[in-house]
Amino acid sequence: MASLSLNQIRGKNSVPDFARTRSRTTWARPSRVGFKVFASSESPGEPDLSVTVNGLSMPNPFVIGSGPPGTNYTVMKRAFDEGWGAVIAKTVSLDAAKVINVTPRYARLRAGANGSAKGQIIGWENIELISDRPLETMLKEFKQLKEEYPDRILIASIMEEYDKAAWEELIDRVEQTGIDAIEINFSCPHGMPERKMGAAVGQDCVLLEEVCGWINAKATVPVWAKMTPNITDITQPARVALTSGCEGISAINTMMSVMGINLDTLRPEPCVEGYSTPGGYSSKAVHPIALAKVMNIAKMIKSEFGDKDFSLSAIGGVEEGGDAAEFILLGADTVQVCTGVMMHGYGLVKKLCADLKDFMKAHNFSSIEDFRGTSLQYFTTHTELVQRQQEAIQQRKATRKGLKSDKDWTGDGFVKESESMVSN
Ligand SMILES: Cc1cc2nc3c(=O)[nH]c(=O)nc-3n(C[C@H](O)[C@H](O)[C@H](O)COP(=O)(O)O)c2cc1C
Repeated sequence: MASLSLNQIRGKNSVPDFARTRSRTTWARPSRVGFKVFASSESPGEPDLSVTVNGLSMPNPFVIGSGPPGTNYTVMKRAFDEGWGAVIAKTVSLDAAKVINVTPRYARLRAGANGSAKGQIIGWENIELISDRPLETMLKEFKQLKEEYPDRILIASIMEEYDKAAWEELIDRVEQTGIDAIEINFSCPHGMPERKMGAAVGQDCVLLEEVCGWINAKATVPVWAKMTPNITDITQPARVALTSGCEGISAINTMMSVMGINLDTLRPEPCVEGYSTPGGYSSKAVHPIALAKVMNIAKMIKSEFGDKDFSLSAIGGVEEGGDAAEFILLGADTVQVCTGVMMHGYGLVKKLCADLKDFMKAHNFSSIEDFRGTSLQYFTTHTELVQRQQEAIQQRKATRKGLKSDKDWTGDGFVKESESMVSN
């Protein structure tokens, strides 16, 4: 993590063993992780999709976002086999017995007249909680995956109650499995905030700072803080997470939503025994909102933390390589996909990689770093837009088209001068 000293980073409970620290610039990876070297499968001349984030090397920037696509060994193994750059597992907590899911727990929004059954799915609401599988089972599966795929990146997503000892125990237990990094779910908008978890912490910067302090004093692998978009200014918690020692920001989690009301039954969706509760909205419809949040966070990081090596993992409505290119153009290092995998399957990563390579070839970009953050410079304030437009109008008025007078025709420039007055 940037230019802070190890003691500044780790605080009082600093881990004495240098080899287990997690600073990026002074990075010495935990021995269990080892050096991840990828034999490039790219043909010569092909754009290189590989990225290295907080010391973690990935064959491409596409990461399975925490949720159903990372719920168990079978599906996470499938993600690695299909070629995903990294996998973030479904969020775990110490006591899964407290997590009780309902079914149905999803509802979709389709484009087209009256949400026509044939319309494209553009929005997805879920009222799913974090993992309801026993922690011990999940940990065993993380360990098995790391043994079978030692050179692939597995990230544990964790969430706990407002209890320092509980966070410390959870971090210790997930780290013992050999996972490469931790993403903290400060952002689940439904169910968990009732237990002062998830978005309840991410929406309260004082609480967030305290909990991040506990986490960063304990963790020995890189920590990403996952932000909720259900807040007025997302840069505030992102700033707190980074100044409290996290190496990266992930954004966004789902948006609080009510999918709709069934006009026959007058009951809300998703409907459980006739009732519902607001849930989290994801998929294509949230992509523009996610772009705005990611842009704001990227600008804040750039202006306030300069060249410090914080990472940004963008999430929200990615189904095509172009969606990912947009996030990278705004400064994202990696791009997560959750609902897209639920709709299109794990093979989606191949299309995402192919799309992204096509985009890179069209612009002659040979690596992700060649274009990461390029479009950030084109965002400004509305006041500056007005000013720029007024200046442009003045300039257009000043540059009169064609010759001012017939006396200006010349022999040498005659053809060009004629051209300058043609309209089509
Ligand atoms: C059914 C479902 C379950 C999810 N569960 C989790 C979770 O356990 N932890 C978490 O951090 N995010 C969870 N998410 C949020 C996603 O990781 C992601 O932030 C969000 O859905 C936006 O990305 P997307 O449009 O690619 O799905 C879940 C999303 C969905 C749709």
